[in-house]
Formats: sequence, structure tokens, C-alpha cells
Amino acid sequence: MTFVTTPGRVNLIGEWIDFNGGTVLPMALPQSVQLELHANGGQQDRIQSEQFADHIDFDISAPAASHWSDYVRGALQYARAQGWLTGGQDVSLKSTIPVGAGLSSSAATIVAALKASSGDLVCVDPVSIAHAAKAVENEFIGVPCGIMDQMAVAIGTNGNVLALDTRDCSYEIIPVPTDWTIAVVHSGIGRALADGRYKTRREECLKAADALNVSYLCEANLEAAQALPEALGKRARHVISEGHRSLRAIDALKSGDRQTFGLLMQESHTSLRDDFEVSVPEMDAMVRDAVELGADGARMTGAGFGGCFVCLIAVDRAEAWWPKLQARHPGMKRIA
Ligand code: GLA
Repeated sequence: MTFVTTPGRVNLIGEWIDFNGGTVLPMALPQSVQLELHANGGQQDRIQSEQFADHIDFDISAPAASHWSDYVRGALQYARAQGWLTGGQDVSLKSTIPVGAGLSSSAATIVAALKASSGDLVCVDPVSIAHAAKAVENEFIGVPCGIMDQMAVAIGTNGNVLALDTRDCSYEIIPVPTDWTIAVVHSGIGRALADGRYKTRREECLKAADALNVSYLCEANLEAAQALPEALGKRARHVISEGHRSLRAIDALKSGDRQTFGLLMQESHTSLRDDFEVSVPEMDAMVRDAVELGADGARMTGAGFGGCFVCLIAVDRAEAWWPKLQARHPGMKRIA
């Protein structure tokens, strides 16, 4: 029997640039997926989830079925194809990561199942696990995501930022300054990535990169992007400016410059709202109020369309700030 725990993640800045050659700044969360796995000697996978109060049996080669178990089954099929496992598996799953919140519950589940499947095989390092998890998400689940979430949950540790260059997966681990509070708040608005909006945005980015003749959209410059037709130009403007913001955010993080980091978060939100068009008005109001009530910066996190937002606030102000914000938006919930 193998037991694995994998955290969720929150992205501090660098949104929608992990397939555009950008650098992203995710951080692991205290919430996690816990997964137990052992071979059952049969030809079916039996998957049980405490969260969904359910268990399910599937043939070991059954395709994705738009079911919560797909994330585990996709990982098991990948592991069998690599020879890490043979035959059916019994898997039991517990998770404290809210689903559909933009905190990478799906990546954490896939990574946990792959880590458990590769067991003690020393040749399977965490970066290879992250790439394998991305392949499962892209090919089995059908979401054409980038590599940020899988790297963040395979490598990230709570309280540290993973500054990840998504072109080659090189990374640096940077501790969050001790006088910074990173608050993660669920807006109360649910979302799903498999509904096609992720795919559309991704295609727009690839088209813009093509039109600007660059391999990755982050390599283009803002002046050139102005020549693009309006919709593509807006997408490109977000991606290119976000690429610059996340590099500046690394410097601010390293020097403990909370004000600059906060301003970059705010610019990021504005750009995601106006140019990338992935925010929702309720979230915009929450982000605006978070700053008005004393946060240095706040922004939606993850793919958007609802889910969570992340705020940066001085440790000594955080305690008084939260109840004031919650009073304005009683439907929201603090996650971290
Ligand atoms: C989702 C995807 C990531 C990334 C973010 C947006 O979380 O899985 O690859 O593209 O959206 O930054």
C-alpha cells in the first residue's frame, strides 16, 4: 500500500502565461489531497472518495467519463502504460482542497495518483511527475492547460513561492517574507475548466503568437501587439504585460517590497478583467473592496470565471481586515 499527500496551490501572479513562455509564481497551500493505493489483482480500478461519499468501479482501460474519478483513472492508465503498475488498483481519496475554486484540486489528484503509482521508482523525479500529470490533463481529461499547476503541486512547499520559468521548468524557491500575509478567499462563485472557455483563450493566444511570429506570446513586444485585430490584441496585451509583471514581482518578493508586489497584483487583476476578460463582476467588487479595506494588492487567481482571489496584506493588519471584508460579502469564505 502506498500513501501520498499532495497540496493545492494558489498563484500569486503570472496568470494565463504558463503556456505562453512566461514565469509564474504559485505557492503550495495547506489544503491537500491524500491518496492511498494498492493493487487489487483484478482488471478493474475501484476508486473511493470521502469527499463525494461514493465509490466507483471502472474497467482499467475505460475512457474518461466526465466523472470525479477521471483524474485518478487517467493517472493509473498513464502509470500502467509506463510500466509503473500492472492491473487493477484500489484507490481511496480524501481532499481538503475545494473543487472548482482555482486551487488545482485536479492537478493535486493526478499528481498524487502518479506519485503513488511510481512508488519507490527513483527514476521518476517530481518534474517528470509534473509533465506526466500535464499529459493526463491534456490528453485524458481534455483540458489543454499549461504546466504551472502540476509543477506547483509536485514541487511546491507551504509558505514558499515557486518562481517557475514555464519554458524549461527551471525554478527558484523564494520564501514569503514573514511580515506578509497571503490570504486566499473563495468568492462563492463556482467554475469549471472543461467548459470550453479555457480552450478558447488558449487558441487566441496561439493565434496571436503566430501572427506576431514568435514561439511564445510572452516573447512579443507590446508595440507589435497593437497591430493585431482588437480581440487578439487585448489577449496579447494581457499576456505580454503579465510576463513583465511577474518578473518584476520576483524582485519585489526578494526585496520584501510589499507595496510594489501589491500594485503588480492589482495591475494583473485589471488586465485579466479588461484585456483577457476572465473575471466576473462580483469578483471585481471583492478585489476592489479587499484593497479599499487595507490589502496592498488583490487579484483573481487561477483560470478565472469565479473561484478564488488572493490578497497580500501586512501581517499586523490582516486580523482586523478580514471581518470587514467578510461583512461586505457574506457569501465569501477564507481558505487560507
Ligand atoms: C489553470 C491551468 C493552468 C494555468 C491557469 C491560468 O489553472 O491549469 O495551466 O493556465 O489556469 O494561469
